[in-house]
Amino acid sequence: MTYKVGILGLGTVGMGVAKILQDPLGRHPLLPEIEIGRVGVRSLNKQRDVAIAPTVITDDLEAIVNDETVDIVVEVMGGIEPAKSLILKAIGNGKHIVTANKAVIARHGNEIFTAAKQKGVYVMLEAAACGGIPVIQALKQSLGANRISELTGIVNGTTNYILSRMYFEGADFDATLAEAQQLGYAEADPTADVDGYDAADKMAILASLAFGDRVKLEDIYREGIRSITSADIGYAKELGFTIKLLGIAKRAKSKSNNNDSSLEIRVHPTLLPIQHPLANIHGVTNAVRIEGDPIGEVVFSGPGAGSGATASAVVADIINVVAALKSMPNQVNQLMGCSHEHYAKIAPIADTVTQFYARLLTHDKPGVIGDLGTAFGKHSVSLNAILQKTTVHDGLAEIVVVTQRVSECNFQKAIAAIRELPTMHSIPTILRVL
Ligand SMILES: NC(=O)c1ccc[n+]([C@@H]2O[C@H](COP(=O)([O-])OP(=O)(O)OC[C@H]3O[C@@H](n4cnc5c(N)ncnc54)[C@H](OP(=O)(O)O)[C@@H]3O)[C@@H](O)[C@H]2O)c1
Repeated sequence: MTYKVGILGLGTVGMGVAKILQDPLGRHPLLPEIEIGRVGVRSLNKQRDVAIAPTVITDDLEAIVNDETVDIVVEVMGGIEPAKSLILKAIGNGKHIVTANKAVIARHGNEIFTAAKQKGVYVMLEAAACGGIPVIQALKQSLGANRISELTGIVNGTTNYILSRMYFEGADFDATLAEAQQLGYAEADPTADVDGYDAADKMAILASLAFGDRVKLEDIYREGIRSITSADIGYAKELGFTIKLLGIAKRAKSKSNNNDSSLEIRVHPTLLPIQHPLANIHGVTNAVRIEGDPIGEVVFSGPGAGSGATASAVVADIINVVAALKSMPNQVNQLMGCSHEHYAKIAPIADTVTQFYARLLTHDKPGVIGDLGTAFGKHSVSLNAILQKTTVHDGLAEIVVVTQRVSECNFQKAIAAIRELPTMHSIPTILRVL
């Protein structure tokens, strides 16, 4: 028996998927049983890097999700609509879904998984977070015995490429972004990557699998990397850190009792000690560090995007669905389904306790350091390190501080007071430290 897939989209990922399915030799033994039934695209006349019979390719995507011969719909078209409606229609028609679309899952996962559960079909999404890295299956299956306490990741290749270049070459953000765009590592509109939206989508998916509850995207605190300068990278280096855009998800420490089960989920540029396992992940590579009981620490790293790497994850999902259909055709394999029904309680960012880095520009006058120390001390913010550079330009001095672990709330109060000091010019950068 063969299983037919209907592929929605034949772009970067879709072509990678088609190439693997057309060349099964030496890969998984189930691959020869999987056939490309239909392929949907927007433009039928486009030149493509893969040969698909004209009878198989169509611009009528509804026809694919309604096709009775299609068993699995592979959604690799991207965007919210019509992808979401096509996925729901396919589920309604009893088809299994494999998707690489983090945007649709992070926003509409609730509706999609509820519909899939009612219909008894699979929705597989290994490629939706960290491309080729098999982290979703690890969270669903291989780490199933663990109580996960923390998941930290470099989940966006574009920003990691930019920050790596800035770290190694001392380049500025704007110049590095322009170069990344020229090389095809960043989109013409880089907002989703550099402002952290793409990372937040992925963290919503990963945190939900790690902690067993659905996560609302709007509950995730998010900051991008636009404010990072070569000066910040230089100071970070001097202090023994690198700067990475991190997604951080962990169980929040309860203020009052031990029964508070809220989570902390945030995406922001972070100073990372140079010896941390994620500090040496450079370029477009992604990595995820998971801490669990009893396993301790595991780190996954690899290509987070690209045609072949992403298709590797998509095709693995197709193989898993086919294997499940063959071995238990009338049941859903619980290890592959989504059982989450409730939303996680996410702690507000004001409740976070962390270290901070701040770069301050002050008027070069005596007593500045004393004023700063008094303002921080008044709000219970203790300092770990302080760097002072005498006149930087226009009679201004630059001071960099790294705090000890303090409450976000106290730190922000101290910063508000410091902004009012007569000796203060401005505070160009505030970052968190892992
Ligand atoms: N690229 C990566 O490395 C990567 C990594 C991880 C996840 N993903 C995810 O994978 C998905 C696909 O990404 P991609 O890079 O492969 O995108 P892409 O290269 O832009 O390809 C999109 C494909 O979908 C088709 N399409 C889009 N909208 C359509 C519509 N309304 N009707 C008919 N066809 C439509 C396009 O048709 P035409 O070719 O005719 O225009 C194209 O073939 C996205 O959700 C993305 O986030 C991508």
